This record gives sequence, structure tokens and C-alpha cells, in this order.
Amino acid sequence: MTDPVLEVRNIEKSFGAVQALRQVSLSVHAGEVLGLIGDNGAGKSTLVKCVAGIIKPDEGEILIHGEKIELTSPRDAHERGIETVHQDLALIDTLDVTGNIFLNRELTRQPRFAGWMDKRRMHREARQILEGLHINIPSVRHPIEKLSGGQRQAVAVGRSVAWGRRIVLMDEPSAALGVEQSRLVMELIKTLRDRGLAVVLISHNMQEVLDACSRVLVLRHGAAVADIALDGVTTRDLVQLITTGAMN
Ligand SMILES: Nc1ncnc2c1ncn2[C@@H]1O[C@H](COP(=O)(O)OP(=O)(O)O)[C@@H](O)[C@H]1O
Ligand SMILES: [Mg+2]
Repeated sequence: MTDPVLEVRNIEKSFGAVQALRQVSLSVHAGEVLGLIGDNGAGKSTLVKCVAGIIKPDEGEILIHGEKIELTSPRDAHERGIETVHQDLALIDTLDVTGNIFLNRELTRQPRFAGWMDKRRMHREARQILEGLHINIPSVRHPIEKLSGGQRQAVAVGRSVAWGRRIVLMDEPSAALGVEQSRLVMELIKTLRDRGLAVVLISHNMQEVLDACSRVLVLRHGAAVADIALDGVTTRDLVQLITTGAMN
């Protein structure tokens, strides 16, 4: 087997007295979707934030293609091809759809007048990105706050799909979505996988996990209690792993 695209080794993170992550390790290969499951408070979002450059772990290592890296900001993570759809969305309400899609990577006009953004081109490209993903938004000039929850989520997922080069982390991407939009998100995840990216999917929908993922890592009270292939595994097995940490 090839080297994992993403490897996390023995990550630890505490918030005051709360030990959110205890010696957690994971690896994800190119073209693989790893499920990350666990009850509320198990540490899933904290783990994702460590890989997204938002939280600095207390201990442990993060490696990309076998190379140990230090992530000090989300921009660091972007530059290494890591994109994230956060549970709390992280879209900017007052910016329009285009502004959110190009957040922190605004196109500048040629020749570059420092700080000038090529708005027309960005709108055009944002529209193309969303259309290419079959994401329906009335206008890319709409401020995000005017969109429905499902549309906002679709923009957040679309952004990660458009920019993700190596690794895409999805923290409950379909939690607020209806049936049809959830199906679209699942399709987008498979698109990423088929493009050879490494994907981590956090979901409370066990059927979704079984459909999209080949392997799953189970967190319980901040510790990894199982890392298993999903062949022959049922939704009941997964629920049991989450609630008891074991499967019989
Ligand atoms: N910024 C923070 N400050 C203090 N405690 C936090 C913070 N973020 C997460 N926690 C705590 O860490 C634990 C894990 O949280 P989280 O990673 O959000 O879990 P999950 O995403 O699996 O529901 C919880 O006990 C949570 O309250
Ligand atoms: Mg969470």
C-alpha cells in the first residue's frame, strides 16, 4: 500500500480540565474516505480543527505524505491542500457567495495592484464552480445571510470541493440538510474520493457512513476505541461501537 496522504500520530489536546483528545492516531490514503464517528463531545471536531490549523495540539504529530508538518493557521493548511467544512460552517454572513468561495484567496487583477480583487472574474468562477457541482444558488452576489441553511451548507461544501487538493475534512456536512441536498453532498464526497483525495467524514448518520466510507475511526471520551474496515459492518455495529466502545 502507498503512504498515507494524512497521518496523525498520538495527538493530545486539553481544554483546561477537559481532555478532548487522548493519544489519537489516524491515517487516510489517497482515494479513501475515512469515517470519524463518536458521541457528542467525543473529540471529533477538535481532531478536525487540529488538522485544519485552527487548534494547536498539545502533543503529537501531523504528517502529510510522510512529512511532519507544523500548522499554525488555516492558511497554512490551505497551502498544503487541506480543506475543511466545519460543523459551525465558518462562512461570513455579510459577504456574498463569491466572497465566501474565494475567502483568503481572492484573485487579483493583472498587473497586480496590491489588494485589488478581480470581482467579475471571481463571480464568474464562483458560478462555474457551483454549476459544475450542480449546486443551485439564486445568485453568487447574494449575501450568505440571505440563503437557506441548506444553500449555505452547499456553498461550504462546494468551496472545499473546489479548493481541496489533497485532503478534505467534513464535519457533519449534511447535518442541517434535507434528503436531496444530503444526497448531493454524498455525491460530492464520492467525487473527491474518485479524484484521489483523502477525505475524512464526520457524520451521525450511520447509513451515510456505511455508504461513503471504507473505514471508520471511533472516538469515545477523546480516545480512539476502534479503527476498522467497514466490510460486513452494520449500522447497529457502529452504534454499539459509539456507545460502548466495543462490538460483539
Ligand atoms: N474551545 C473549547 N474550549 C473548551 N472546551 C472545548 C472546546 N472545544 C471543545 N471542547 C470540549 O472538548 C470536548 C470535545 O469536543 P468536540 O471536539 O467538539 O466533540 P465532538 O465534535 O465529537 O462533539 C468536549 O468536552 C467539549 O466541550
Ligand atoms: Mg463536533
